[in-house]
Amino acid sequence: MSILIAENVIKQYKQYDEVVTAVNRVSIKIEDGEFIAIIGASGSGKSTFLNLCAGLDRPNSGSIKIRGNDITQMKPDELSRFRGNFLGFIYQRHNLLPQYTALENILIPTIMCNKEEFRYEETLKKLIKALDLGSRLHHLPSELSGGQQQRVAIARAMINRPQVLFADEPTGNLDRENADEVLNLLLATKEQMGQTLLMVTHDLKIADHADKIYKMDNGELMLFKDKDGYKRNSFEKESTETKEAFN
Ligand SMILES: Nc1ncnc2c1ncn2[C@@H]1O[C@H](COP(=O)(O)OP(=O)(O)O)[C@@H](O)[C@H]1O
Ligand SMILES: [Mg+2]
Repeated sequence: MSILIAENVIKQYKQYDEVVTAVNRVSIKIEDGEFIAIIGASGSGKSTFLNLCAGLDRPNSGSIKIRGNDITQMKPDELSRFRGNFLGFIYQRHNLLPQYTALENILIPTIMCNKEEFRYEETLKKLIKALDLGSRLHHLPSELSGGQQQRVAIARAMINRPQVLFADEPTGNLDRENADEVLNLLLATKEQMGQTLLMVTHDLKIADHADKIYKMDNGELMLFKDKDGYKRNSFEKESTETKEAFN
């Protein structure tokens, strides 16, 4: 079953008297439980598209349906309720609140959604165990390593058991060893909790764990690799077809 369906999504920005088309007629269908990676050059529109799918920004046109609900048509308060209950977001920089402990940071989404303790207790225990955060819970973000900070950010994104998790270069600020560790923990936790994951990364080694890799190029999104292997781009396909026609 498809959990996220985006159709003909366009996002343009006006810069002075120029119009930048950051996302150009993008369509994608994501199945429940899939891990989708989006790669592409800097400035190709990856973050813009992810933010649109997560309801952090609105497109100029097109629709984005999550479990059948078109988030582009929701009123602001309806959208923030929907985001709080069904979506989670992990950024490149952890964005933890510096004056609160790791545990307090993890619990922020439960406070925003007025969740009673018994409704998240079990999930909290699971996350602390899966992400190995037990000994660091009462520390401030500044007292944690980069990898630990990012693990807290993952727990915060997952505490409300969102159905879709969005991650924008979640390991982009970490060295190889920490990046691999955080990714493995993220994927194991996703497996355990059954989320769908849409991740932007410039790291092909990380993207290779995904069920499908899409590539963003100048605002356009194309399938780059799935379980059957790498896709030839449409230009290559056309030229082979032309060649075949001549043979
Ligand atoms: N808030 C904004 N205002 C104006 N232009 C923007 C804004 N956000 C992104 N852009 C432009 O949109 C394009 C895509 O940016 P972005 O989605 O951040 O790319 P990526 O994440 O792939 O590096 C870039 O040309 C960028 O300059
Ligand atoms: Mg980006």
